[in-house]
Order: sequence, then C-alpha cells, then structure tokens
Amino acid sequence: MGLRNKDLISIHDLTVGEVATILDVAKKLKRKQKNGEPHQYLKGKTLAMLFSKASTRTRTSFEVGFWQLGGHPIYLSDASSQIGRGEPVRDTARVLSRFVDGIMIRTFSHDSVIELAEYADVPVINGLTDLLHPCQALTDLFTIQEKMEVLKGRKLVYVGDGNNMAHSLMFACAKAGMNMICASPEGYQPNPEIVKMAQEDAVHTGCSITVEEDLFNAVKGADVLYTDAWASMGQEEEHNIRKQALAKYQINSELLAMARPEAIVMHCLPAYRGEEITEDVLEGPQSVVFDQAENRLHVQKAIMALLMSDEIL
Ligand code: CP
Ligand code: NVA
Repeated sequence: MGLRNKDLISIHDLTVGEVATILDVAKKLKRKQKNGEPHQYLKGKTLAMLFSKASTRTRTSFEVGFWQLGGHPIYLSDASSQIGRGEPVRDTARVLSRFVDGIMIRTFSHDSVIELAEYADVPVINGLTDLLHPCQALTDLFTIQEKMEVLKGRKLVYVGDGNNMAHSLMFACAKAGMNMICASPEGYQPNPEIVKMAQEDAVHTGCSITVEEDLFNAVKGADVLYTDAWASMGQEEEHNIRKQALAKYQINSELLAMARPEAIVMHCLPAYRGEEITEDVLEGPQSVVFDQAENRLHVQKAIMALLMSDEIL
C-alpha cells in the first residue's frame, strides 16, 4: 500500500485500506516481537521525537519501538532544544530533515504539526496535539479488533470531554465502520467541524457518528465504553470547573451495567480515578487499559515501518 514517505497527522487523511494495512502490519510485528523474530525494517534510520508536552506511553513506545526496528531515536524536549527558545517550526523542519529519516511530534497547536509537515522532507507523525491523537486511536482500533475480532458494526460510546481523543476516535470509528456516540454535556462537546468530517467519512463505511448529552441512553448496547481525562494537558487551571461540568460523565459500575455484558472498557491513560472512571471499573475484569497501552508499541512500529522502511512489509 502507499503509505511510504507520507505523514500521519490525522486518521481522516488515511484511506480505509491504509487503516486496515496499519492494523495488519501491527499484528505481524506484535507476533514477531513476542516470538523474538528479527524485524529490523528501519536499520540505520533515525527518528527525531519532539515533545512540548509530558508523556509516558508515547515517548517510551516510540523510542523502544524505533529501536526494536533497528533505528536510533532522538528525544528533543522544548527545554533541551532551541524549540523552547522560539526557533520557528519551519526552520526546525528543514534542519531536522537534513539529519533524520522521520519526525514524531507532540505539541499544543495542530497547525504547528501541519506546518512542520509542510516544511519537512521526511515523514511527520502526530504524537498528540490539542486537536487530535491519531496514534492512540489507531491503537484503539487494533485493541478492539484483538478483543472482539470484528470492528464493523460495533458500537463505541465515548464518555466525557469532547477532546483530542474524542476527535481521533470519531475519525477512527468512521474509517472502521464502527458506530460511535460521543456522550458529552453542552459546552464540552467535540468540535463540530471534526464531527461533520467524521460523519462524511462514515457515509462511505455505512456507520454513524453522533453526539448526545443523554449518557444513559447513549450507552445502551455498547460494545466499548471509552473515556479520557476531564482536563487535558494545557487545561490544568480549568480542572475544578471541568470537574463540576463533567461530574455525571463518569464510567462507573452503574453505567457499565447498561452496556452489553461482554463490553470492554478503554482509557488512553493517564487516568484520574474517581473522576472520569472509578477505581473498580478501571481495575475490573472488563477493563483492557493495560493491553491497550502495550499496543501503542506495536501499532506505532507498524506506522513507522510503513512510512519509513525501504522494504515492502
Ligand atoms: N495515552 C498517551 O498518549 O499517554 P502519554 O501521555 O503517557 O504519552
Ligand atoms: N486528552 C489527553 C490525552 C492524554 C494522552 C490530553 O490531551 O492531555
């Protein structure tokens, strides 16, 4: 398939076939890694990883994954690079393109990632912006497929803040033919432009992407319940006000009982126990959050190999 040398900025930009290819290659790479089989598709390559926000999973899975693929990852934070000093994105893009084979970036402004990709000659991977978190949502499709085999026709209910995670899940579900309801209160609903784009994508796969306030109605018959923090990185000062506004939008045992009995519970982590999810549900038998976290490694390896490898995978 044709992902070689492309960027991965939004799932919306991928074809249905490209999404399926990423999931297939991730499955193969996961198996190879578990069996100790060599899979050094990026031998001799380098990756710059730019972080303007904190990270545990994204940083570690990209760094370990790139190394497992035979390449050398380089971590650059704002404090340890000239980015924090205000060097323009377009200059950083052109300089790094002379040194490395790919760039992964986690930052605030989505437009900065678009600018980076415009000026870089190498693939750019979005490791989270205020608008989107595509690598997480692609991993989430992979985890749902692993747990439930078939994605098409499944129902995912996202509970809480209509944030970057909600946006990327809408794009992911639309490409996978999954029905998704984003259950959020007024004022915290997803960006209407993103909803519209996801709904347009959903027409092609015959599924529905909707937003509703009535959480208990939304959750009926759900195969997947998903939530994320009420206050994302950069919104720390709004935490108290968000706690009040989103108080009812919590995954707890009462809500879970209204989903299908075999439903799984997902969270991109880090979680705030007692806020968007209760301790008993997060630690309970229906929660798949740690498999979900592990799969970041396998799916991102697939993405990096597909964008950057000279070999056909
Ligand atoms: N889910 C996720 O992206 O986690 P980190 O913020 O730890 O990278
Ligand atoms: N919505 C969260 C996701 C963290 C992985 C944030 O942006 O902080």
